[in-house]
Amino acid sequence: MKNLNIGLIGYGFMGRAHSNGYRRVNNFFDLEYQPVLKAACGRSKEQAEAFAKQWGYESVETDWRKLIERDDIDAIDICTPNNTHAEMAIAAAEAGKIVLCEKPLALNAEQGAKMVEIIEKTGKPNGVWYNYRRVPAVTLAKQLIDDGKLGKIFHYRANFLQDWTISEDLPQGGAALWRLDAAAAGSGVTGDLLAHCIDTAIWLNGGISSVTAMTETFIKERKHNLTGKVEKVGIDDACAFLCRFDNGSLGLFESTRYARGHKALYTFEINGEHASIKWDLHDLHRLEYFDHRDESRVRGWRSIHVTDGDMPYMGNWWVPGLQIGYEHSFVHQVADFLTALAKGERFRPDFRDAQETQLICDAVLKSGANGSWENVAKP
Ligand SMILES: NC(=O)c1ccc[n+]([C@@H]2O[C@H](COP(=O)([O-])OP(=O)(O)OC[C@H]3O[C@@H](n4cnc5c(N)ncnc54)[C@H](O)[C@@H]3O)[C@@H](O)[C@H]2O)c1
Repeated sequence: MKNLNIGLIGYGFMGRAHSNGYRRVNNFFDLEYQPVLKAACGRSKEQAEAFAKQWGYESVETDWRKLIERDDIDAIDICTPNNTHAEMAIAAAEAGKIVLCEKPLALNAEQGAKMVEIIEKTGKPNGVWYNYRRVPAVTLAKQLIDDGKLGKIFHYRANFLQDWTISEDLPQGGAALWRLDAAAAGSGVTGDLLAHCIDTAIWLNGGISSVTAMTETFIKERKHNLTGKVEKVGIDDACAFLCRFDNGSLGLFESTRYARGHKALYTFEINGEHASIKWDLHDLHRLEYFDHRDESRVRGWRSIHVTDGDMPYMGNWWVPGLQIGYEHSFVHQVADFLTALAKGERFRPDFRDAQETQLICDAVLKSGANGSWENVAKP
């Protein structure tokens, strides 16, 4: 078996999710490569060492540039806030590393374009962690659409709803709250949540040509954790947009962190000429399917329990009827990346795919600011 030596930057939520993916992948998938947890990098030596011990990393670094300089690292995995992605990814690419970057690709499409240009110049494999593509029920939706089961698609509808920033007392900035700080996050729900919805949508239903959006910042000022001062909030707390897809279908997307009662309600529904499908992250192992071609007496929405061995990824797990969860989407992403690497094939989504999402996010934010319809540029 060939080793792929991983150097991971950031030991927060995604640092854990990716490490879990690396550790479990060879237990469940037969692969030519195995990830080796060479080094974990974070700014606090103590926390990096505790993380390395818990997850089995061989060593730690406290400066990401040192990690990138190391000869014993093949792939740099970026699990840090959005404002660090471009600098780290470009430095890693220039050092000849494979680069795996968390989403959104960058703070904006200008940064993203530079990242795509440099990584493509190196010819090195690269990937972005839009992991929802690899939830088995979502992958099944892709198969059904590609098989033509839905026929011509008319509508694509997606929501990503949360409720964790409603309190005025919540500060912005710093560890855990960088998502509220525009300098660190780039945008609010658009880059954080709608980026996921957009990535899934363009994968399932093709490109988006134009958008019109409304955005709102409900709480205009919050104390900043890094300066200690009350400062203007620069992120979008909520965003809704309409769009036209290249295939002529219409899209409707909404995301907010002010939907009381919802923690991470990511849902999508697609309506086609013959059939419709619905998916809900809170019930992620099910795909709802309605087929108008069924005999009318038994026609209705069916709830497909995506656990059988012939369903995407499921043959690698337990037995039919037993479901898997959120963390497995990261195991699948690692498995697919290592498979593509072994075959010398392009992994998707890569930086170029993520830049397509970035360009849509930029158009949404521009429209949200000026109320216009915006055409979307292609990467
Ligand atoms: N794919 C997904 O579903 C998903 C989910 C959550 C977050 N994300 C993305 O992952 C990234 C990280 O988010 P998170 O939720 O893990 O954040 P987090 O706050 O839990 O962790 C961020 C980590 O980065 C570290 N860090 C910050 N600046 C650093 C620097 N200069 N050098 C080294 N380490 C640094 C922090 O100390 C922390 O360990 C973001 O880009 C986010 O958008 C993706």
